[in-house]
Amino acid sequence: MRTCWLNGTFLPEDQAQVSIFDRGLLFGDGVYEVAAVFQGRLLDADRHLVRLARSQREIGIPAPYSATQWLDVMQTLATQNSIDEGLVYLQVTRGPAERDFAFPAQVTPTAFAYARPKRLRDDPNAAGVRVHVVPDLRWARCDIKSTAMLAQVLAKQAAKAAGAFEAMMHEDGLVTEGGSSNVWMVRDGTIYTRPLSHDILAGITRDVTIEVARDLGIPLHERAFTVEQVCRADECFMTSATSFVLPITRVDERVIGSGHPGPIAQRVRDGYLARAARLTQG
Ligand code: PDD
Repeated sequence: MRTCWLNGTFLPEDQAQVSIFDRGLLFGDGVYEVAAVFQGRLLDADRHLVRLARSQREIGIPAPYSATQWLDVMQTLATQNSIDEGLVYLQVTRGPAERDFAFPAQVTPTAFAYARPKRLRDDPNAAGVRVHVVPDLRWARCDIKSTAMLAQVLAKQAAKAAGAFEAMMHEDGLVTEGGSSNVWMVRDGTIYTRPLSHDILAGITRDVTIEVARDLGIPLHERAFTVEQVCRADECFMTSATSFVLPITRVDERVIGSGHPGPIAQRVRDGYLARAARLTQG
């Protein structure tokens, strides 16, 4: 039985209960984070907590726990659940109140977290994944890491039904991002990724990948690109806390480059893993 954490208390997952009036359940009125655990230690959790605080601020949910308290909760979950490689998920909702769309006058946020194992270093998907192209049906504030994710649920289900690992979303032909990842392409030795705006999530793995690419001396431009440009690119890859850097070798029926992970995606993934190992070593 997993140990999770709810509103300040560690407890077995079957004892963690929230109200049916929780606004996370009624409205998707909440925000979340997913951070990786590598070598038993949190990876870049401080950056995830900065983004969590921003998401909360943007939608007016007070921050009941400090970054230090969260870090302690997250590391304790990883340790108590014997997670060597995996993820910690945390969520804050506006809390339980009689159903009314506007913010309740008196409400206490609901906060919870849990951890789960996942292979990150030896991820079999590092051999290359297929993405499925779908229109981006989301709202105008995709920079907020909101738990209201019906559009992503539908996008990722469509991808699964098409035999793909991830959805690649576009707006009028311009790639926004993956269903739960950022998307990158490589052309003539240069890496491209969409610039930050309200249209995409500012991925923590995206930030780190930019740093890794700069350290490796690989040219990089933050510039939007089309689905067609991805299909004609030399290489393509995706990034997220749950997958690190994964080569994309197919876009639906189109083969990218050689159909195998490209050299730049491979170097970036290796550089990312090396940094992760360095930061989390005992
Ligand atoms: N999702 N874009 C979207 C829409 C995402 O949901 C995510 C992450 C990312 C990548 O962000 P980061 O590098 O900080 O993980 C980009 C998480 C992993 C999830 O929903 O499971």
